[in-house]
Amino acid sequence: MSKVTFSIIKADVGGWPGHSTVHPDLIDACAASLDTAVETGVIEDFLVTHVGDDIDLIMSHRRGVDNPEVHQAAYKAFLAGTATAKKLKLYGAGQDLLSDSFAGNVRGMGPGVAEFEFTERPSEPVIAFLMDKTEPGAFNMPIYKMFADPWNTPGLVIDPNMNKGFIFEVWDIETHQAIFLSCPEEMYTLLSLIGAKSKYVIKRVFPKKGHKLPHNEPVAVVSTEKLVEVAGEYVGKDDPVAAVRAQSGLPAVGEVLEPFSFPHLVSGWMRGSHNGPLMPVGLDNANCTRFDGPPRVVGLGFNVANGQIGEPNDLFADIAYDNARKQALHVTDYMRRHGPFEPHRLSLADMEYTTISKVQKELQGRWTPIDQVARAEIRVIGEVE
Ligand code: F6R
Ligand code: MG
Ligand code: MG
Repeated sequence: MSKVTFSIIKADVGGWPGHSTVHPDLIDACAASLDTAVETGVIEDFLVTHVGDDIDLIMSHRRGVDNPEVHQAAYKAFLAGTATAKKLKLYGAGQDLLSDSFAGNVRGMGPGVAEFEFTERPSEPVIAFLMDKTEPGAFNMPIYKMFADPWNTPGLVIDPNMNKGFIFEVWDIETHQAIFLSCPEEMYTLLSLIGAKSKYVIKRVFPKKGHKLPHNEPVAVVSTEKLVEVAGEYVGKDDPVAAVRAQSGLPAVGEVLEPFSFPHLVSGWMRGSHNGPLMPVGLDNANCTRFDGPPRVVGLGFNVANGQIGEPNDLFADIAYDNARKQALHVTDYMRRHGPFEPHRLSLADMEYTTISKVQKELQGRWTPIDQVARAEIRVIGEVE
């Protein structure tokens, strides 16, 4: 049997209301469109779901990554969602679709993509992670922990199949270059890059040569689209998605989920310009309300079988993540009290919205060198010509 491809393609085509969540009619419109893609044999199986204001199309097929027919099917689904959003006058209808005409690949057209092709194992657990109100670098810490940190993943120490470690593909999303780093040998080098999560992002993880899985078939993949670069200006946060294979020589499902028991600080949230905790939630709580957040992650477990994704298990709905949620809510209160100050508000370089150049222009001519200010006349607004 040919290999299976697991694709997550996501876009924000309208929020209900504001940027909080997705209207159910949009989910229905996308699902009806993907039904046609199944009937015409483009894809094998799919789930349309959402986190916050992002629609996530989770699909399986036999056509490999970057396949024009699969990407077109996704684009058509988003266009159907957009038409519904426009009818309902939802907020930002069609915001992540940068063009009405499809150019062969959704990459660079607005939607985010995480997809990998692999030889289906006798049992193939795959977990889809969907985030809203944050950026691709939010996956750096959890993916690192899953595949390189023995405190998170004891399998790295005690499973002979995992003992050699894994290879990380890291992208510099500013210069558009990629590098492969081998862990544990280059662990500190990897950390020195991916700690700078707005610039360096983990794109894929591969087994090493000698692992029982093929060396060139990824075991984890993250979407790395940067809408701000794609569109040349801010058109919406590049809320990321990822897929991770688990078990039998890979991190166990519990090791894949464990990093999310710590609601680490990520960038995004209100106006794409604030740091806040990443809260793991079930689909019932995938609704960004408080200060347009806090940033959220949904984890859906699948058991891919004969090319079908089957039913999802809503993993973070479990009470085991209640403490992480509580901690995230405490951190939310704590961070919010910083108001417009860093490190709640992002640094100037990382902000998606800023009035600083306008402020600088308005203040031109009012600055005095510090060594002369003691003798300067005090003149305030209204007294300056
Ligand atoms: C963050 C996000 C929202 C909006 C905010 C303002 O990614 O999408 O926090 O930035 O609701 O939106 P506008 O400027 O469209 O009113
Ligand atoms: Mg939005
Ligand atoms: Mg979003």
